[in-house]
Amino acid sequence: MSQIKLKVADIQQLTNTIKSFDLVSADGGHLPSWEAGSHIDIEIDGHMRRSYSLANQPGDTDHWVTAILREEGGTGGSKFMHDKVSVGDELTIAEPPTNHFSLEEKAASHLLIGGGIGITPLLSMGYRLKDMEADFHLHYCTKSKEDTAFYDKVLEVFGSNGVTFHHDGGDPSQGIKLDDVLSAQKEGQHLYLCGPGGLINAARDVASHWQDGTVHFELFASAKSEDEKTEAAEGDQPFEVELKKSGITFTVPADKSIIELLRANEVDVMYACEEGWCGNCKVGLISGKADHRDEFLDDTDRENFIQVCISRAMPGENLVLDI
Ligand code: FES
Repeated sequence: MSQIKLKVADIQQLTNTIKSFDLVSADGGHLPSWEAGSHIDIEIDGHMRRSYSLANQPGDTDHWVTAILREEGGTGGSKFMHDKVSVGDELTIAEPPTNHFSLEEKAASHLLIGGGIGITPLLSMGYRLKDMEADFHLHYCTKSKEDTAFYDKVLEVFGSNGVTFHHDGGDPSQGIKLDDVLSAQKEGQHLYLCGPGGLINAARDVASHWQDGTVHFELFASAKSEDEKTEAAEGDQPFEVELKKSGITFTVPADKSIIELLRANEVDVMYACEEGWCGNCKVGLISGKADHRDEFLDDTDRENFIQVCISRAMPGENLVLDI
C-alpha cells in the first residue's frame, strides 16, 4: 500500500455547509487514474480516515475535486476538513482511489438519484455518461437552489434535459415523487442512488421490483458522533475479544461495538463510515465465529477478516483478532 501525498490547490464554499477541495499531487507529478464513482480515504489527525467521492472528470490525473458537507454531529472529520484545512496544506491518502460504486457501462440507460452531498460521485458519472453518449437522467434532491452544490456544473454536464432538480424546502413530502420516478424500469435500465440513508432506503424500497443487480447505491451518512449510543439489536449478547498482538482482552457489551471498545482501550484502528460499508476498519480474524453484518467483505474474506465497526461474535463465541 503506497501512501499518496496531496496538496490542496483550491477550496470553494459551494453552499452554507458544503466546500469543494481541489487536490493535486504534492510532488507536482500526475495522480493515479480513476473511474467514475470512485472515492479517496483522507487521513485525518493520524487516527481516522474519511471517505470522500471524486466529482470531476473521471481519469483526470492532473487534479481531483471532492466536496465535503460540514457535519455538526459527526466525529470531527468534516469539521477538520472545513475548519483546519487551507489552500497549500498537504493531505495523505493511504491508497489510490477505490471504487465501490461503478457505472454499469453496458446498461441500456441510466437513472441517477442524488440527495445533497450525494451528488459528488454522480457528477463524475455524469461526465462519463456524457462522453459515452449514453441515455441518462439525474434527479438531484436538495432543500433549495442555494443548498445545491455544483448547480451550474451539473447543468453543464447533464444538460438541461438530463437533470431534474427537486427542492423540498426541508420537507421531504414536498420533494421527489419516488413512485412516479421508479415505478417502471425500462428494459436494461440501471439505477444509481447516492445520498442520505432516508432517501436511499425509500428509493430502494420503491425500486424493489427492479431486476436483480440493476440498483446500485452508496450511502452518504456521517459516522456516528462520539456520544451517540449504539443501540443493542434484539438478541445481541456480550462477547469477549482478545487482541493477539496487543495482548489485551475485553468484553464487548450488548449495546457497544468492537470499535468502541478498541477506542476505549486506546487501540488505533482506521475507520470511516462506522456502518459497515466503507471497508476501512477491516481487521484480521484469527479465531472465533463472527456475526458479519457489513456490506463490504465477500464470503472468502469473511473467513479471515471482520469489520469491527459493526460485526459481532455469533452467540456463545469469542473472537481473537490480529491486532
Ligand atoms: S468503518 Fe466503514 S466498514 Fe467499518
